[in-house]
Amino acid sequence: MIMNLAIIGFGNVGRAFARILLERKQDLEKRYGFQSKIKGIFELNGAFINEAGLNIKDIINLNPNEFEKHENWKSKVSANNLIPKLDIDIVVELTHTNIKTGEPGLSHIKTALNNGKHVITANKGPLALAFPEVQELAKKNNLYLRFEATTGGAIPVFHLAETALMGNKIISIKGILNGTSNFILTQMSRQNVPFSIALKEAQELGFAEADPSLDVDGIDAACKIVIIANSILKQNVTLSNVKIKGIRQITKDAIELAREDGYVIRHIASAENGKLEVSPRLVPENSTFAIEGTQNLIRFETDLAKEIYIIGRGAGGREATSAIISDLLYIHKKTQ
Ligand SMILES: NC(=O)c1ccc[n+]([C@@H]2O[C@H](COP(=O)([O-])OP(=O)(O)OC[C@H]3O[C@@H](n4cnc5c(N)ncnc54)[C@H](OP(=O)(O)O)[C@@H]3O)[C@@H](O)[C@H]2O)c1
Repeated sequence: MIMNLAIIGFGNVGRAFARILLERKQDLEKRYGFQSKIKGIFELNGAFINEAGLNIKDIINLNPNEFEKHENWKSKVSANNLIPKLDIDIVVELTHTNIKTGEPGLSHIKTALNNGKHVITANKGPLALAFPEVQELAKKNNLYLRFEATTGGAIPVFHLAETALMGNKIISIKGILNGTSNFILTQMSRQNVPFSIALKEAQELGFAEADPSLDVDGIDAACKIVIIANSILKQNVTLSNVKIKGIRQITKDAIELAREDGYVIRHIASAENGKLEVSPRLVPENSTFAIEGTQNLIRFETDLAKEIYIIGRGAGGREATSAIISDLLYIHKKTQ
């Protein structure tokens, strides 16, 4: 069966996903019998639509100001209006993260699930704010809602929990879930510089946004621990249930004092004893949690396997695509 797809949001991740699906076309068919057609690509001001399947090669190299010239471009159509009418199996929701309302992603996800389409998303906002609601909607409609790329980028957090660790009782989950704040803490410690200088370096290298608040104030990591708590620990929680403390107040002196005692400071997100927290914590300098740079880490504490750590890249279009493709193949396998 050919899987018909629509992508909503054609930015960094949307383009990487379309490109890699094209590059891997033969490979995915040969290894998994997976065949797909992208019938729609939705952007803010319109969409590429072709019920027979879009020619992705034509589209992936276009700049947004060239979209209108393409024969399949339709101006001023929106995903919420058109998705219900298209013959689509899976909607891949890749718009920007909005942690105030979850929009536009939340409406896209609900529209898809209310109209018989499975959903894959990399967008944390809707899930951090409304996980119980959208999960229930998927369940009610017998559809899959998959979100591996929302948390830890390329790291297979959810797949690991639901497959390899499935016989375990998972007691707690702790992690470094934001590469930007980990980079800043690493640089403060390595170069003995204050927060403001380390932040500036992160911004110059493209690791931090001009407005870094989501990262350094712990909101991004909090969204991820909420998704983990709901899906793996089966808690019924949203962002408002997380105790959050950022890293802006960490001083050079605090880092120096920690170092004298053999510790480093890391921004840790945890789901433990029913409580969710994101805060700077002391970790022994030789512990696995003392990872450096932009890497992400997740530690599962389980009853049988005890501690399991996974470390990897938490950001990047190709890395996120690794996670999205794993969700795509999961749905493909389950629906054959
Ligand atoms: N980048 C990463 O490394 C990474 C990793 C894991 C997860 N994620 C998550 O993946 C999602 C996408 O990330 P990204 O880096 O690709 O973001 P991005 O480059 O900002 O792309 C988002 C795209 O969505 C479009 N968009 C905005 N409103 C829309 C609407 N109503 N309908 C259709 N399209 C709309 C934007 O168009 P305009 O530019 O015209 O507004 C933009 O092209 C985010 O939620 C992010 O948190 C990203």
